[in-house]
Amino acid sequence: MRAAIGCPGLAPIGTTPRGGPLLPAGWTGSISHKDTIAVGLASPSKSHTVGVDVEVDRPLVHDIARLILTARELEEIAPLAPEPRAREVLLRFSAKESIYKALDPYVGRYVGFAEAEVTPLADGTAKVALLLRDDEDPSKREGPFEVDVRWFRRDGLILTSARILRSELL
Ligand SMILES: CC(C)(COP(=O)(O)OP(=O)(O)OC[C@H]1O[C@@H](n2cnc3c(N)ncnc32)[C@H](O)[C@@H]1OP(=O)(O)O)[C@@H](O)C(=O)NCCC(=O)NCCS
Repeated sequence: MRAAIGCPGLAPIGTTPRGGPLLPAGWTGSISHKDTIAVGLASPSKSHTVGVDVEVDRPLVHDIARLILTARELEEIAPLAPEPRAREVLLRFSAKESIYKALDPYVGRYVGFAEAEVTPLADGTAKVALLLRDDEDPSKREGPFEVDVRWFRRDGLILTSARILRSELL
C-alpha cells in the first residue's frame, strides 16, 4: 500500500506529543475511527497538512448545536426541520474535527469549536471561515491559512476532510 502511494520504506507511523499521527518526513496524515470503521488519509506534502473525520450519520442523543456552532451557524441551520438539522449539526461537527486535526501541527493548542465557521455546500466542498485568536505581533500570528474542506455521506457514514496551507503572512 505504501509503495502504491509512493511512500518509501517501512518507517513506522508514530504519535506526536499532542496525540496526532506522526508520519515519515515529507508526509502528512490523519486518522479517525468510530465503532467498527477506521479511516486514514495520507499525502506527500512539504506545504500542507490534512485532517480526516468519520461519523455515523444518525442524529446524536443530545443536541450539541449550541456547543459547537457559532451564532451565525445557528442562524443558518434554523430553517431546517429537526432531522435534517441534526444531521447538519453532525456534518459541521465532523468538518470542524477534520479542521482541528489539520490545524494542530501549525498551532499546537486546543482550538475551540467557535474558532471555525463551516457552511457545507451541495457540491461536497464547504465555505470555511477561521476565527483564530490574533496577535498584534505579526511574528506570533497563527495564520493566515487556506482551508479546503470536502465531505460526503455514504453507507450511513459522514466522511469529512480538511487540507490546510499556511499562506504567506501579509
Ligand atoms: C482530537 C479530536 C479531534 C479527536 O476526535 P475524535 O472524534 O475524538 O476521534 P477520532 O477517531 O475522529 O480521531 C482520533 C484520532 O485523532 C488523532 N488525534 C488525536 N489528537 C490529535 C491532534 N491534537 N491533532 C491531530 N490529530 C489528533 C489521533 O490519530 C487519533 O487516533 P488514535 O486515537 O488512534 O491515536 C477530538 O477529541 C478533540 O479533542 N477535538 C477538539 C476540539 C475540536 O475539534 N475543535 C474544532 C476546532 S475547528
